[in-house]
Amino acid sequence: MTTTLLVLVGSTVIVLIRSYQGMASPLPALSYLVCREETIAARNRVASPRIVNIHDLRRIAQRRLPQVVFDYLDGGADGEITLRQNCRAFDEITFRPRQAIDVTPCDLRTQVLGKEIAFPALLAPVGYSRLMHPGGEIAAAGAAGYAGTGYILSTISGHKLENVKAGTRGPVWYQLYLVGGRDVAEGAIERARNAGFSALVITIDTPVAGMRERDPRNGMKELLAGNLFAKLPFVAQLLSRPGWLASFLLDGGVPQLENIVVPGQGPMPLIDVTSALSRAVVTWADLRWIRESWPGPIVIKGVLTGEDARRAVDEGAAAIVVSNHGGRQLDGVSPTIKVLPEIVAAVKGETEVLMDGGVRRGSDIVKAICLGARAVLVGRAYAYGLAAAGHAGVTRALEILREDVDRTLRLLGCQTIAGLDSSYVSYPRDWNTTR
Ligand SMILES: Cc1cc2nc3c(=O)[nH]c(=O)nc-3n(C[C@H](O)[C@H](O)[C@H](O)COP(=O)(O)O)c2cc1C
Repeated sequence: MTTTLLVLVGSTVIVLIRSYQGMASPLPALSYLVCREETIAARNRVASPRIVNIHDLRRIAQRRLPQVVFDYLDGGADGEITLRQNCRAFDEITFRPRQAIDVTPCDLRTQVLGKEIAFPALLAPVGYSRLMHPGGEIAAAGAAGYAGTGYILSTISGHKLENVKAGTRGPVWYQLYLVGGRDVAEGAIERARNAGFSALVITIDTPVAGMRERDPRNGMKELLAGNLFAKLPFVAQLLSRPGWLASFLLDGGVPQLENIVVPGQGPMPLIDVTSALSRAVVTWADLRWIRESWPGPIVIKGVLTGEDARRAVDEGAAAIVVSNHGGRQLDGVSPTIKVLPEIVAAVKGETEVLMDGGVRRGSDIVKAICLGARAVLVGRAYAYGLAAAGHAGVTRALEILREDVDRTLRLLGCQTIAGLDSSYVSYPRDWNTTR
């Protein structure tokens, strides 16, 4: 039985209570109207001059999302030391500009895995994106394509991978977790191959989920999977964000994991990240069968040492991502920008090196390129935009980063991304040591 209590406030429909049993939204016309109004409002919400940088988008995201969803996106593991240091470590790098150079036009393009992207940033896999905005992965991938760059789809996704691919003109990669086991993973790999995904990303830093302390406090597990009574203590935070709640309910409530299809059962219901990752450990040995199922390029994400970087090269990785999962896994590991020089030295140019973690400005992107990264992945920087305004918000986030990169390059007196090297920066000498 479906019970819906609607309260109309001005032109906004606020759905306060709706319990349902797996039915599609009974309000398609209303849903359409709300979405349409939402699209126009969304563009205004993130327009300049109100939104000037990524921190502005974060503020809007915080205002729109219930605390449980905002903290899931914003938070990190344990004391959040690595989360903070990922950002702060960029401040330890200073630029060494060349003045009085004519830098028009500036060329921001680069090649990643043989494909050209318009500027050196791709969208990192971000699980549960459909909770941040109903457009979720489709909106983010579409905005990436619009900006001329690529999108990496997480296994923990609410939209079908075929629809995500169809929704963008940019390259898309599939990020694999072994949630559900090998058969389920092989099914997803086959679908990704048929849909035209161009690389497979294996995340290796999640033998279990990190302890993200904000999640249990906010009732993440109860809200996603608990029974109605278990949810009750946490419902007030949802009611305090009526705009988000309306779009969430019109979208059908908690989405299914459309790309984790259990044979004979269908898509897995959404579970919290701790439960999901407790069954998802991947080892170097798994790469053998994964390689048999996926003939294309494999990217290893979560490398933090020269030793693991060498291992990834030896296993045939086409690229590695220097990543600590945005400070969400093992707290107390090094900020990623700090280990980048060690890893670049270890791989000796035998594979492409990408990095992520703490990128909030275009100048951070330029610093990473100077230290040897081919490109960066951005996670929260675009997810704040997604939460703030769906497709329009991600588009705005990428526009901000792109303009930042362009301006930074001009101020540095460097005309191309390919022309950047370590001579354009100073950074602490001990970043080059291997231990
Ligand atoms: C909300 C959220 C969900 C994430 N989900 C995944 C995921 O499903 N798979 C994965 O490999 N990494 C995941 N990550 C890590 C990102 O891919 C990326 O490594 C990290 O966000 C980079 O740090 P940044 O957010 O500071 O840019 C997630 C990160 C966030 C913030």
